[in-house]
Amino acid sequence: MGEPGELAADEHVRYIVTAEKKKDSFESLVMEHLRLSGAYWGLTTLDLLHKLQAVDAREVVDWIMSCYHPESGGFAGNVGHDPHVLYTLSAVQVLCLFDRLDVLDVDKIADYVAGLQKEDGSFAGDIWGEVDTRFSYISICTLSLLHRLHKINVEKAVEYIVSCKNLDGGFGAMPGGESHAGQIFCCVGALAITGSLHHVDRDLLGWWLCERQCRDGGLNGRPEKLADVCYSWWVLSSLIMIDRVHWIDKEKLAKFILNCQDKENGGISDRPDNAVDIYHTYFGVAGLSLMEYPGVKPMDPAYALPLDVVNRIFLRKQQ
Ligand code: FPP
Ligand code: ZN
Repeated sequence: MGEPGELAADEHVRYIVTAEKKKDSFESLVMEHLRLSGAYWGLTTLDLLHKLQAVDAREVVDWIMSCYHPESGGFAGNVGHDPHVLYTLSAVQVLCLFDRLDVLDVDKIADYVAGLQKEDGSFAGDIWGEVDTRFSYISICTLSLLHRLHKINVEKAVEYIVSCKNLDGGFGAMPGGESHAGQIFCCVGALAITGSLHHVDRDLLGWWLCERQCRDGGLNGRPEKLADVCYSWWVLSSLIMIDRVHWIDKEKLAKFILNCQDKENGGISDRPDNAVDIYHTYFGVAGLSLMEYPGVKPMDPAYALPLDVVNRIFLRKQQ
């Protein structure tokens, strides 16, 4: 492995813009049902690199709206697919990037999300009913961005998330579920958005999270797993929210991420020498953003959007 060098920002921008156009490539085929989330990953990366103007905003907004189901109020991952809260959040996030929430029937969408809350405070992802703390985060984040948190029982939502807390300080997908950095991001993010972080044992969870740093500098998602670039985001964002990010060796982590770049054709992979994809490109750049890497916009760790975008949404609300 040679010297990692710097962030190949121009190459990553080119990779994202061309990936968006190559609709019949193998990666696009595999990713088809995830296209709305893929759009969120790619477009947020462009914004972080100050290059959102490289895409046609109107074209993006029109395509997003073609994934909308007006009967239910939810968004699907692609045209003609079924709606799900995951894609509904991605749609709202992308519209936030372009400052185009005005195209939405906000109350209809908020009612769709709120309608998926269960008696015990948990959330299903769609009408099929699978329950997971990912969906608690997604619902709370979506409703907060739309200024509609009052449509759910926040107290019960928080109570359910707290019931997924483990003795190691972490959180799982359901009560008794194993601690996992992705689920920890979801639970801590939802608690941060609802002003409920007092339910977290910051030192205990901070210890579990900083133990995710491997010898190669990268972070893993659970004990005994290999480091993976996407956990730079899930772990660092959680550590920032609980004010323990100084427990990580940032220099070693930045080197690990930079080593996963394809410096010629752009893109970032999960670990060195693997094939790049848009998901790891986003979370690699987002991880560098959380470490204040030069030339990358700062991000909000709870909303997973650039800080200026989040500030615009909440400052406007106050006016
Ligand atoms: C790991 O997934 C990540 C998670 C379980 C968290 C997923 C969170 C969301 C979908 C909420 C929306 C997120 C944002 C940033 C707005 P994995 O399946 O890759 O796990 P593995 O490493 O165990 O395979
Ligand atoms: Zn990964």
